[in-house]
Amino acid sequence: MENKADLKVNIGGIELKNPVMTASGTFGYASEFENLIDLNRLGAIIVKGLSLKPSMGNPPPRIVETPRGMLNAIGLENVGFTSFVEEKLPFLKELSTPIIINIYGKDIQEYAELASRINDIKEIAGIEVNISCPNVKAGGAAFGTDPEAACKVVKAVRDNTGKPLMVKLTPNVTDITLIARSVEDAGADSISLINTITGIAIDIETRRPKLANITGGLSGPAIKPIALRMVWQVVQKVKIPVIGVGGIMTAEDALEFLIAGAAAVQVGTANLINPHATIDIIEGIEAFLIKRNIPRIQDIIGTLQTNSYHEEHEGTRRLMN
Ligand SMILES: Cc1cc2nc3c(=O)[nH]c(=O)nc-3n(C[C@H](O)[C@H](O)[C@H](O)COP(=O)(O)O)c2cc1C
Repeated sequence: MENKADLKVNIGGIELKNPVMTASGTFGYASEFENLIDLNRLGAIIVKGLSLKPSMGNPPPRIVETPRGMLNAIGLENVGFTSFVEEKLPFLKELSTPIIINIYGKDIQEYAELASRINDIKEIAGIEVNISCPNVKAGGAAFGTDPEAACKVVKAVRDNTGKPLMVKLTPNVTDITLIARSVEDAGADSISLINTITGIAIDIETRRPKLANITGGLSGPAIKPIALRMVWQVVQKVKIPVIGVGGIMTAEDALEFLIAGAAAVQVGTANLINPHATIDIIEGIEAFLIKRNIPRIQDIIGTLQTNSYHEEHEGTRRLMN
C-alpha cells in the first residue's frame, strides 16, 4: 500500500480533507496559531463563538485546572459580528481550510439574524449553532436542554441560511438522543457533541468557589468517556453525521470517536496544552491507517464491535450450563 491514506470526509455538505477540526473557543480566530502550525492542513477551523454585539464574557477568575481537565467560565467573550467581519475575516478568507462560524444568541431572533448575515459571506463553509454553552444565562444551554426550544432555534436558523448547519449539543441533559433527533428534524445537517459538563471547584482555605461565576464547564481528558458514550448513543438515533468532541488529546482518542461512529472530530482543550495537537492527531490517524493497510478513513468509521462480548458471554454461559 502506498504511503498515504484517504482521510476525506463529508460532514453534512462540507467537504474536509481530513476529519480533524478545531473546537470553538480553544483556537481563537485562528490567526493566534498562524506561527505555530500550518493552518491549511486542518480539516476545518471553527472559530470562537460569535454573537451579534461584542461581549466581555464573565469576570475573572474564569479558568481553573482540575485533575485531567479544566473548568472554564469564559461566558462567550467575543468581538461581535461587525468587528469579526472587519478584523478577523480578511485573514480567514486567505486560508484554503473551510471556516465554520460558531454562533450563539440571547434569543431566537439573534440566532436568526446572525445566520442571515453569515449567509451573505461566501467564504464561510458552514455554521455551528451553539445551543449548549453552560456559562451564559440567556440563550446557550437554555435552548439545548429542551427538545422543543432546540427545534425552534434550529428552524429559525435554517430559515435564514442555506449554509450547512452543524448543531452543537450540551451533555447536561438526561437523554441527549431526544435533543439530537429534534435538531435533525428541524433541519440540522450535522450534530457536534459534546460541549462542556457543568462543574464547580472550591478553594478550601477561602471557602469560595474558584471561579467568579461559581460554576464552569469541564473539558479535557476527564470528559472523554462521557463524550464517547454520548456520540455512540446519538449515532444510533440520527441519520446525519455526528462530530465527536471531548477530551481528544491524541490520534488514538480521535480514532475511538471515529470507531464509535463519529464522521469527524473536534480538538479543544488539547490546543491550549500543545498548539501542535491537531497536526499530531492528523498525522497519527494517517499513520494508524497505513500501518494496518486501511486505505480510507471511511473504512474505520462506525466499526465498533459490540456483539462479540455478548456472544462470547453467551457461549461461556451455555458451556457452563
Ligand atoms: C476556554 C474554552 C472556551 C470555549 N468556548 C466555546 C465557545 O465559544 N463555543 C462553543 O460552542 N464551545 C466552546 N467551548 C467548548 C469546546 O468547544 C468543546 O466543546 C469542549 O471544550 C470539549 O472539548 P475538549 O475536551 O476537547 O476541550 C470552549 C471550551 C473551552 C475550554
